[in-house]
Amino acid sequence: LVPGFIALAIGYLLGSIPFGLLLTRAAGTEDIRSIGSGNIGATNVLRTGRKGLAAATLLGDALKGTFAVLLARYLYGEQAALVAALGAFLGHLYPVWLGFRGGKGVATFLGVTIALAWPAALVFAVVWLALAYALRYSSLSALTASVATVAAGAFFAGTQTGLLLAILTGMLWMKHAANIRRLLAGTEGKIGKK
Ligand code: G3P
Repeated sequence: LVPGFIALAIGYLLGSIPFGLLLTRAAGTEDIRSIGSGNIGATNVLRTGRKGLAAATLLGDALKGTFAVLLARYLYGEQAALVAALGAFLGHLYPVWLGFRGGKGVATFLGVTIALAWPAALVFAVVWLALAYALRYSSLSALTASVATVAAGAFFAGTQTGLLLAILTGMLWMKHAANIRRLLAGTEGKIGKK
């Protein structure tokens, strides 16, 4: 029980580092939460026009999840790795430092998947890139890619990993409620437009 709790705490603390907010703040742009969708993720950082900052946000928000899983696995084994993945995702979505108003989880979902089932992360990347290229909706790409990743995760890493990814995907979809409404209404912003 104690290793599980420590793994959850490690995950949460790493996951709650809001790279998008910290990087844009350090770069001196306007508060990212008052731009575009108001989200702290890479997609919204891209709306500042700073591609490098957006890439760094994607990298930071993903790798904090990867690192949390690897660290927990190294310390306590595979069960703890799954718990750390959950912790990192919760930390990103609900960071105590930002009054529990965090991001939508896409980059961190990818990051924990890299460490839990890397072939499934590849599936995520391929589906995301293909859809983003074809339709130019970041949110729709992530919503679809996450579902594909649940199946791929179960296939490549077993039922437990599939189940965890399903839970994360459920939360990711909930966090995209406003995006889903905009997609259905045809008003969702496209990649490359402000
Ligand atoms: O990573 C979140 C993305 O799927 C949508 O972001 O800023 O368009 O709500 P945003």
